[in-house]
Amino acid sequence: MYGLVNRAIEQLVVSSKGDAAWQRVCAGAGIGAEGFVAMCPYDDSLTFTLVQAVSEELAMPPAQVLEAFGEYWILYTADEGYGELMASAGPDMRSFLANLDDMHGRVEAVLPQMKLPRFSVEDLADGALRVHYRSEREGLAPIVVGLLRGLAGRFG
Ligand code: HEM
Repeated sequence: MYGLVNRAIEQLVVSSKGDAAWQRVCAGAGIGAEGFVAMCPYDDSLTFTLVQAVSEELAMPPAQVLEAFGEYWILYTADEGYGELMASAGPDMRSFLANLDDMHGRVEAVLPQMKLPRFSVEDLADGALRVHYRSEREGLAPIVVGLLRGLAGRFG
């Protein structure tokens, strides 16, 4: 995964638990604390090791860490220079989700080694939406729960 993702995990820990907690996560994950380069792709195993170390530091299951990460991602990307791109993807939940693959496609123009997930939206009765998520990666579905919660917050 691109360093942007690992940096967001770092910021999530630092902003909620402080620098010392992040240093312990790095020690637990066996990585140096020199940080990640946002535009550089890293092996997926690094991200999974980080999530495991954060889970131990915060004493919460890995799925809960992923969910918190997903919710944070909505705020983080807006702060990291992708705010206009997010805004251009749609003014409400349904149109945003329908445009998500196109929006990721535009991110891919600057981060060409992305392995993109695919999303589609299905309309159910009473205005409910069913979101389909397809990924080459195993085990990241809890992120999507957090992302959807973050988007629900964004769109009220
Ligand atoms: C402008 C905002 C966004 C940016 C810049 C962005 C960028 C990225 C990047 C860089 C990755 C890692 C891909 C890789 O390295 O292979 C990623 C993955 C992912 N993104 Fe986005 N993203 C954004 C918004 C969203 C939103 C709003 C959602 C969903 C509601 C979403 C869902 C995901 C998921 C689920 C993954 C995990 C990939 C997988 O399943 O393999 N992203 N995104």
